[in-house]
Amino acid sequence: MAIYEFETRTIYMTKQEIFQLEFENHVTEGLKAFPKFLSSKYIYDDRGDELFQQIMALPEYYLTEAEYNIIDTHKDNLRKVFNTHGAFDLIELGAGDGKKTKVLLKELVTNKVDFTYIPIDISQHAIDDLTNSLTTLLPDLEVQGEQGTYFKVLERLATYNKRPKVIIVLGSNIGNLDHPQAIDFLIKIKDVMSDQDFLFMGFDQKKDPLTIQHAYADSQGVTQEFNRNLLHRINKEMDGDFPVNNFEHWESYDPETGTAKSYLIATEPCVVEIKKLQLKTTFKKWETIHCEISQKYDDDTVEWLANKSGLEIEKIYEDHQKLFKDYLFKIKK
Ligand SMILES: C[S@@+](CC[C@H](N)C(=O)[O-])C[C@H]1O[C@@H](n2cnc3c(N)ncnc32)[C@H](O)[C@@H]1O
Repeated sequence: MAIYEFETRTIYMTKQEIFQLEFENHVTEGLKAFPKFLSSKYIYDDRGDELFQQIMALPEYYLTEAEYNIIDTHKDNLRKVFNTHGAFDLIELGAGDGKKTKVLLKELVTNKVDFTYIPIDISQHAIDDLTNSLTTLLPDLEVQGEQGTYFKVLERLATYNKRPKVIIVLGSNIGNLDHPQAIDFLIKIKDVMSDQDFLFMGFDQKKDPLTIQHAYADSQGVTQEFNRNLLHRINKEMDGDFPVNNFEHWESYDPETGTAKSYLIATEPCVVEIKKLQLKTTFKKWETIHCEISQKYDDDTVEWLANKSGLEIEKIYEDHQKLFKDYLFKIKK
């Protein structure tokens, strides 16, 4: 049970109820706004997790393969670096199915490194699946999974035990934030780090715009289904009547800013009623809902972000096709 401050009243709610209320408030705000928006972080329920796993297996979605290659190639070095100060907590923000992390976990467990793995994800389903699969794959591994959003969990991280921390954020999750939000995110991480701690984070790199465009607009339409899951969730959880098939996915990558943006676009005019929110909203033909950004980076931009956040780059790891990089950060001295 947790405390939720609402206007002047204090209400006692479960974590799940608070999360649901935040989702509902977000939908109200996003659909009343002009232009409309909805955050991609709410795509991830059981179905959303499953669709994201399908995306990771798509030939166009190079990110997973590239980061897998980095971790697999450098796992020996990463083990040594992470273990610099002895026993530690390995905290993963937005862990998902942990496909790439498992390579690292196996390396650590096999070499009898003393650590606890703490995966954090907004999706309870992702945490449950990951924890269960690790019980079978690595029975000796100590796992303490936790459902929650990055920011909420980061606030609590400071009170975790005082062992050295290695915080990992894979899959370019940071790319879903614009630069000011990314700086805020990095500062929050830095604030829970001490001098001996590491941050290991994936940043997808600027590259041929077509490669990026195709990664987020696949030929099989899986990304479209993934984004539409947000509307399915609203229909299911808030008694809405979005005509989901009338919303098409559109991806647009701007090579100048390095920002890929995804939208759902109404291909027919419609009125959508969401009974639980007592909300009616109209869509003109071709009206958009902005769902997600996927920011692409280069070394200069990552260095600038680090500088602004009180971090410094210790080491850069790159995949063999030079598509993706993971950066190892420490607190700036
Ligand atoms: C793009 S997936 C990447 C998963 C994994 N890091 C990887 O590299 O394969 C993003 C993951 O972060 C989770 N997520 C998205 N927004 C989040 C938030 N604000 N707080 C916590 N988890 C979040 C999603 O549920 C999903 O599992």
